[in-house]
Amino acid sequence: MTKPIIVANWKMNTLADQARRLVRRIVELSAEQHLDSVGTVVLCPPFVNISIVRSELTDTAIELGGQNCWTEPYGAYTGEVSAEMLRAVGCSYVIVGHSERRTIFGEDDEIVLRKMLRAWEASLIPIVCVGETLHQRQMHQTWDVLRRQLGNIAQHQDRSRAWVCAYEPVWAIGTGIAAEPEQIEQAHLYLRSFLDGHGCSHVPLIYGGSVNANNAAEIFAVPNVDGALVGTASLVAESFVAIIRASHDAHRTTT
Ligand code: PGA
Repeated sequence: MTKPIIVANWKMNTLADQARRLVRRIVELSAEQHLDSVGTVVLCPPFVNISIVRSELTDTAIELGGQNCWTEPYGAYTGEVSAEMLRAVGCSYVIVGHSERRTIFGEDDEIVLRKMLRAWEASLIPIVCVGETLHQRQMHQTWDVLRRQLGNIAQHQDRSRAWVCAYEPVWAIGTGIAAEPEQIEQAHLYLRSFLDGHGCSHVPLIYGGSVNANNAAEIFAVPNVDGALVGTASLVAESFVAIIRASHDAHRTTT
């Protein structure tokens, strides 16, 4: 495993006090277990809690990210938040194209691409989510879907731009049932060669979908897995820090 990147997606969870308590505990446990030095850890709280979380991260190596952004830098877009705004409150990452955005809020590949380009304009690192639904998998469309979701992104590649690709099979998100290691291996092999073939060998490839403290080590042992995007288990500090620790152990055994 290369230097791991572990991303916490808190989704629409945590009131202000809960966010403060959660980040404090994550910082405390990470320091106790000396988990500061290897790889990257990114916390993506709800927008309104970003500043609270940021104030607790001073003097730590933990980074901040937004869960979404709009395609324009400012203007009459009621209810939206721009990549520039995220940057100004201390974010260095932003998740784009999460399956919940695609399915609940109707975002298509074109919008995802525009958000990615906007994130770059604002000097943020986009974490781009791709993944097939259960129906698409059952219809043997997985590779077509992944190729389509990454197709227009690959055309806008520029080696100077950093981004992270997150493989998140929709059927594994929030279900408590992660994809099997063999399924992750096949998808990551496919995506890795797609990315490499489009000038993106510098792009880390992380897995998301029911990663927890018990299955993390097994998932991090899969070839071409560079980290994880963690939802449910990132809301419990002990579980999230155990996942970070598992990524460090996996990194150590391969270096
Ligand atoms: P989960 O969420 O870990 O709860 O499956 C992952 C995600 O949606 O990014």
